[in-house]
Amino acid sequence: MIRRIHLLKLLYQYRAMGFEYFKEYKPVITEPQSNFSLPNQMDILKEDVHRCHLCELSKRRKNVVFGEGNPHAKLMFIGEAPGASEDESGKPFVGRAGELLTKIIENVLGLKREDVYIANIIKCRPPENRVPSMDEVSACKPYLLKQIKMVNPSIIVALGSTSFHHLTGEYDTPISKIRGEVLNFGDAKLIPTFHPSFLLRNPTSKKEVYADMLKVKGML
Ligand code: URA
Repeated sequence: MIRRIHLLKLLYQYRAMGFEYFKEYKPVITEPQSNFSLPNQMDILKEDVHRCHLCELSKRRKNVVFGEGNPHAKLMFIGEAPGASEDESGKPFVGRAGELLTKIIENVLGLKREDVYIANIIKCRPPENRVPSMDEVSACKPYLLKQIKMVNPSIIVALGSTSFHHLTGEYDTPISKIRGEVLNFGDAKLIPTFHPSFLLRNPTSKKEVYADMLKVKGML
């Protein structure tokens, strides 16, 4: 990923020098994928992500929404993608859905928002809040996986189907069938539940999320 960022920078420099066209780029030395790694420090990873142009979403974003919270949190929430308020502020879950998530964290789990870590499957807002494409997720997910590795939470809550599907690869399982189950995700437990935006449209489903969160609370 970093090599691709460097390559892009190089291409921008060539364009600034007046080059219009380049033959296919073939690196002389090819690193095996296993040797390639993202930074092991959160702030350096964040800087890299802020410079990321690996997908089209980077062209329209106002801000990258890297994620925030306790870098050693036991509990991590993973949503889908930034919306308008998040794109404006650079912070995850700060709009109406975010207010509901914050209430769930404080009132049901008895925690402060700063105690947990909050991120999304992708870090830039898709136009009109559409569901992220597979290409966008493929370009962005390594950053999230690295964040998960660094935070090393014992519990991850996947908020909504996009989050659950892309974290697990279980694209055929509807969130309504799997929510509340405790799944393995590396060393952590993964609990899928409904997305707060879904709850805003379907308030009667709040009781299921309440039950899922009580389960999470019991496991903390
Ligand atoms: N919805 C998400 O999935 N993530 C956000 O950060 C905000 C809304």
